[in-house]
Amino acid sequence: MIDFFNNTFYLNTSSSSYIMKILPDGILVHKYYGKRIKEQNMDFYNLYKQFDYTAVYKVNGEITTMDALPFEFPTTGRGDYRNSAIVVSGTSGRTTNDFRYSFHRIFEGAAELNGLPHLDCNTENVQTLEIILQDIVTKAEVHLFYSVFEDVDVISRNTVIVNKSESNINVSKCASMSLDFEFSDFDMISLYGRWANERSVERIPLRHGQNIISSTRGASGHHSNPFIALARKNANEDYGEVYGAALIYSGDFEIGVDVGQFDNARLFAGINHETFSWELKPNESFVSPQAVLTFSDSGIGKMSRNFHKMCRKHLGECSKNLPHPVVLNLWEAFYFDLSEEKVLETIKNASKMGVDTVVIDDGWFGKRKNELVSMGDWYINVERFPNGFHRIIRECKNNGLKLGLWFEPEMIGKESDFIKEHPEWFVKLNEIEPIVSRGEYVLDLCQDEIINFVFDSMSGILKKYEISYLKWDMNRNITDMGSLSLQSNCQNEFSHRYMLGLYKLIGKIKKEFPHIYIEGSAGGGGRFDFGMLYYMPQIWCSDNSDAISRLDIQFGTSMVYPPETISSHVSAIPNHQTNRVTSFNSRGNVAQMFALGYELNPNIINESAMESIFQQIEKHRELEKWIFEGDFYRLTDFDDEYCAWQIVSKDMKKSVVVFVVKLTKAKRIGQYVRLKGLQSDKVYKIKQYDLSLTGDLIMNAGLPIIKQLDDFESLFFELSTE
Ligand code: DGJ
Repeated sequence: MIDFFNNTFYLNTSSSSYIMKILPDGILVHKYYGKRIKEQNMDFYNLYKQFDYTAVYKVNGEITTMDALPFEFPTTGRGDYRNSAIVVSGTSGRTTNDFRYSFHRIFEGAAELNGLPHLDCNTENVQTLEIILQDIVTKAEVHLFYSVFEDVDVISRNTVIVNKSESNINVSKCASMSLDFEFSDFDMISLYGRWANERSVERIPLRHGQNIISSTRGASGHHSNPFIALARKNANEDYGEVYGAALIYSGDFEIGVDVGQFDNARLFAGINHETFSWELKPNESFVSPQAVLTFSDSGIGKMSRNFHKMCRKHLGECSKNLPHPVVLNLWEAFYFDLSEEKVLETIKNASKMGVDTVVIDDGWFGKRKNELVSMGDWYINVERFPNGFHRIIRECKNNGLKLGLWFEPEMIGKESDFIKEHPEWFVKLNEIEPIVSRGEYVLDLCQDEIINFVFDSMSGILKKYEISYLKWDMNRNITDMGSLSLQSNCQNEFSHRYMLGLYKLIGKIKKEFPHIYIEGSAGGGGRFDFGMLYYMPQIWCSDNSDAISRLDIQFGTSMVYPPETISSHVSAIPNHQTNRVTSFNSRGNVAQMFALGYELNPNIINESAMESIFQQIEKHRELEKWIFEGDFYRLTDFDDEYCAWQIVSKDMKKSVVVFVVKLTKAKRIGQYVRLKGLQSDKVYKIKQYDLSLTGDLIMNAGLPIIKQLDDFESLFFELSTE
């Protein structure tokens, strides 16, 4: 997996190779990343045959410039004017750095990151390369970690900076990875959006200069996602070379590409340096979040499947492959209008639906009657629930159900008992009125005392009642950043320290209550990233529960994240966000291949609707035995009139397909959807048509859509080999 000779590092996954070289003067340069190559002689492949009069650099008899050199971990101030990966200053305060190779080691297993989410460390068939470079100017050491996850074609990267000097140093930038390409004829694919419309796909050609996706919100955000793909111009869903980069991090980030004067591209990912800096005393170290890289020679689809496999095999809670509970969430059923009687009535009907868990969402605590009051008062509202949750839990048990509960642990309400007791515990400046959003402020999770307090308040409820499911929400972004606990020269550490505090809090809850299944949420999908998925195996994908809106949202989310991590609920009509009316069948079909759940009031639906829900859940239970370890394929493009996706079982004997009309007045023409991933020579029985066709035919001529479909109508197909 990892070889080193002739001063060159060779990192191989099953289908990709990543190669770097130490130049004679100790500069570490990148050589190659792409399809796996067996040859181990890269001496003729130099990416630096360019010339500029500034910062002339001689290497192996050739003259080039620093601005063309493919630095593996670039710095500023020495003639490379492209994006730097690291900026460190010592007592002089100056920011020029020059890192040279010091030593390296190769070890079994993966890199361990203290306090940060990361891919498994103790995995077999994983090797790690740690390269240590030292800065001539500040004496800071940078440790570059590369863990090779051969089986899923992923290389993880992260950086550790160690202060080897005798005085303090300041780190004002520290990327998790940087990677140079000789060429820049790529399109950049990213996921953008807004509240209730997350993760739309955008594909644009790279321009010269910086092309950046970022967040300074204290969360990865509805608006951006810590992921980009670089696709060769001719690459599409199934063909061509595509590089994917994502961060296992949920806070302020930047991922981008800098296209330099010689048309070469530099891909970088890490903490957003705008809201970051870190003071290090002698011998202290700083650990960056982990980035993950994958290469696909078969289009965007394979890149997605690589990420899905990585998540399923190596990412924290996701790799436990826990069966997800099918929930009835009461948010859209009652919003804040909750009472014991209502919940008791709902439980009876929920059991007829066939769900596993009833989730009491916002509105059960303090004096909560709307979003403006009681945030953080984590005690039961006795007016609404005079018996606490005792009767409710008893009723759940009598009906074979479990109870789930909503929390928003990171916030404190402007109108709350909590703030009266602890007016200094939220994020604010002294000089200016803090911004209030949704009636709440953000707790200062840089402080252990506050983390422990929140943990204790949540534990009070979680210990007293048998709660099996926790929805962890976060409904506002951070403003007025800074912490009273930090000295003035360390205030820019706030954003990352907040994330460390948050991960610590979630980790404590997980440790104390390992049986509780946690679903993430941030005003819907405002923090959908691998960092959160490390702790929570599924995330509420969007506050928009309309099936047709969900097509694009789930399509975009599936670019990176596996379907079982994407909470997808069937909700009432007309839809509460869009007012759109769609058939029960379509709402179910759109959710069926994801983490299915319900978001409606079962007390007002008729017997036949109840029976249909029951059937839907039965089908889901049958399918989930294999779909969540299968391969996910997108069959249409994000701007098509129709949307179709497919899952093929691991053994390729079974497949399910959903086909939905996405636009009104979509052309009423006969359709053939070409399926993917089947065995060409096998005959597949298509259950819904009572028809058998070869994989060859279905993948090339297509699966016939025999029926003329109305607006928003959908079809669900099940295929299996005979
Ligand atoms: C935002 C979530 O995304 C919703 O599902 C719901 O839990 C509300 N918050 C409750 O305030």
